[in-house]
Amino acid sequence: MNKKQKKVVTAFTELLACEYPIIAGPMFLVSNEDLVSSVSNAGGVGGTPSLNWRTTAEFGEALKKIKAKTTKPYAVNLIVNKINPRVEADLDMCVREEVPLVITSLGNPKRVIERVHSYGGKVFCDVTDLKYALKVQDLGCDGVIAVSAGAGGHAGPTSPLVFIPYLKTKLKISVVAAGGIATGRQILAALVLGADAVQIGTRFIASTEAGVGDDYKRAVMTSEPDDIVLTRRISGTPASVINTPYIKKEGLDLNPIEKILLKNETTKKYMKIIRTLIGQKALEKAAHQTTWKTVWSAGQGVGLIRDILPCQEIVDRLMLEYWEARNAI
Ligand SMILES: Cc1cc2nc3c(=O)[nH]c(=O)nc-3n(C[C@H](O)[C@H](O)[C@H](O)COP(=O)(O)O)c2cc1C
Repeated sequence: MNKKQKKVVTAFTELLACEYPIIAGPMFLVSNEDLVSSVSNAGGVGGTPSLNWRTTAEFGEALKKIKAKTTKPYAVNLIVNKINPRVEADLDMCVREEVPLVITSLGNPKRVIERVHSYGGKVFCDVTDLKYALKVQDLGCDGVIAVSAGAGGHAGPTSPLVFIPYLKTKLKISVVAAGGIATGRQILAALVLGADAVQIGTRFIASTEAGVGDDYKRAVMTSEPDDIVLTRRISGTPASVINTPYIKKEGLDLNPIEKILLKNETTKKYMKIIRTLIGQKALEKAAHQTTWKTVWSAGQGVGLIRDILPCQEIVDRLMLEYWEARNAI
């Protein structure tokens, strides 16, 4: 195992009181109590979406388990838009358990920011464009997660080489780089571009702790960047997946009727809910068992991942690579 590396001081590590500027990106189905607590114990900030548990009560139990396994800061992702019926209840739970970092996606995070700030927690918001980044800054969040092209999950459209410095020059708050980062050298690059931290997802799918089956982990380990394609069939919005034979057969776009329903103001919301439910079912099925309907979510960083390791070792290696690259400059 690699030996513990020197602390890295950035505005993010100061704000969260952690050793390394690394968030393990919250991942639907993948993040669990062990992944979150291992990354936090290793010096980063482990993250999970609240929706990885079937009910708010089960989510609350999971938070208690995380707190029993680590005293270090960790993060929870709340999906704030209208298609998530649990947002209020899950926010109540975050407030009750005083979650140190809440990461919001979509919607208007105003209430989340007010309530999380009331107990001293921090709020970062996923952003894919400047307009929304300025809006959440005005609402008072502590930072943005710059979700760039190549990311796992719902990737943004802009290259990280542009998006990070672009946001940095326009915003006053912290910028966290997300998308394609799987090595310490890339963490250094993101910090040089102006990021205060990185959010890493795909690298942590190939971890011993990740709550998905070995076939999925092996697929991440053996895929190349050009195996990643964007499909609208999971939620209506482009999402990164491995181009399995099933994805190839199904195609990447919605059918013409779905497209019309998605354009119409009255049917849009229901169309998104239906597509998201179908997409989530497909992801759930493929996450744990062998099925011909294989839908595996991952980003272009797959090309840099060649092993499945415990989270502690992943973080140790990222920081070893970071310091080697930094000392070589
Ligand atoms: C399998 C998978 C599931 C994800 N689920 C979520 C989610 O539920 N909520 C969220 O905010 N981000 C989600 N993301 C995005 C990650 O939190 C993170 O921003 C992204 O993975 C960073 O890009 P990378 O995978 O290239 O490192 C997911 C990503 C992946 C790969």
